[in-house]
Amino acid sequence: MPDLYVISKNTDSHQQLLVTTPPSGLSLSGRIRVPGDKSISHRALMLGAMASGATTIEGLLLGEDPRSTAACFRLLGAEISELNTQRVQVRGVGLGQLNEPVDVLDAGNSGTTIRLMLGLLAGHAGKFFSITGDGSLRSRPMSRVVKPLREMGAQIWGRNGGSLAPLAVSGQALKPIHYHSPIASAQVKSCILLAGLLAEGETTVTEPALSRDHSERMLRAFGAKVHVEPETNSVTVTGPANLHGQPVVVPGDISSAAFWLVAASIVPGSELVIENVGVNPTRTGILEALQLMGADIELQNQREVAGEPVADLRVRHTSLKACEIAGDIIPRLIDEIPILAVAAVFAEGTTVIKDAAELRVKESDRIAVMATQLNRLGAKVTELPDGLEIVGGTALAGAEVDSADDHRIAMSLAIAALNAKGTTTITRAEAAAISYPDFTATLQQVCQ
Ligand code: S3P
Repeated sequence: MPDLYVISKNTDSHQQLLVTTPPSGLSLSGRIRVPGDKSISHRALMLGAMASGATTIEGLLLGEDPRSTAACFRLLGAEISELNTQRVQVRGVGLGQLNEPVDVLDAGNSGTTIRLMLGLLAGHAGKFFSITGDGSLRSRPMSRVVKPLREMGAQIWGRNGGSLAPLAVSGQALKPIHYHSPIASAQVKSCILLAGLLAEGETTVTEPALSRDHSERMLRAFGAKVHVEPETNSVTVTGPANLHGQPVVVPGDISSAAFWLVAASIVPGSELVIENVGVNPTRTGILEALQLMGADIELQNQREVAGEPVADLRVRHTSLKACEIAGDIIPRLIDEIPILAVAAVFAEGTTVIKDAAELRVKESDRIAVMATQLNRLGAKVTELPDGLEIVGGTALAGAEVDSADDHRIAMSLAIAALNAKGTTTITRAEAAAISYPDFTATLQQVCQ
């Protein structure tokens, strides 16, 4: 009899994930790989599509979000091979040479796709573009990129004064700006830098705290002039740039690895090695937070692959203690807060997560949804305006919980279920395919 039952059921157009823990408990073991980094995958497709010549992408995430990016850039004239093997070929159009698409560009569920693409399209003078997305994306704030793009001379229209998709763009010649972003957001930073590629002169973005720097790294590799000033969290790109197709190697996504880091930490007797994970310092806040909680995580075989630091992560079960997470670390673990909340449920003491109001405008309101859903399992989680307070150490019992159509919530709840008594049913679990299509298969594999 298996230790753990993980069953996927189709209901209407949705999937339920049923996780049943045996009364004797279970443990996780094995060596696994996680899919390619989502942020790097989007950027590789976009820069490849904009560059002259051929780009080969090794290890691309074959999830729904990169599929949205690929579909948009095919409509814009780039040749992108089918996303069915991890080696994807892109033939770019050359900077500033995207086609006026004959249809609406659909960014699906992906904030990175719509916001970065807006920056690239805004400077295509004389061309018209319309962009939409799914229900979640159409409710997410776009003014954070529309406002600075308008300062550069962009013409953008949309609902609510241009702050909500669907959006329409009439490409214009752009002028460079120095933008002081009120939020630490890699999507805002990248959008402006990409717009700056087509503006004559220096475009600078200064942010209040450092956000992920994959755009800066990859733009440089593709031949753009990029200057970083770490003391002021500023990046400058000089336009017009020349981008040349490149081989890109995408490391495993630390945001996906985070589910296994927490799973092995909270389930007694567990030990996992997650191979080939990207450990870019702008993304490793989750490692620091878990180590602060006392987690047993070791970075092995550290190396650099195609301009990004990579390591194998070995994690063993240990008892966790509560911690406080706030300030500059937040942008460095923003996507991992739902699974960090799960870790806190099983830690001794009260964990407080603050300065994370951005979570309210992600694929779902992750503060509200995580509090509601974890409490359904018996946890003691309180919403704060900008975070969560979690009283650890209460026993969880299986119940029906819902992903709110948010990939990271679906997977976080499945990990919480590993330590809940009986059966937990996660509805709308198919959302995981946005960033981790094989999540359920890997869950079955490590629990055997
Ligand atoms: C991303 C940046 C972050 C992150 C998102 C991916 C990126 O968003 O939450 O999942 O690839 O640039 P913000 O820029 O809104 O913080």
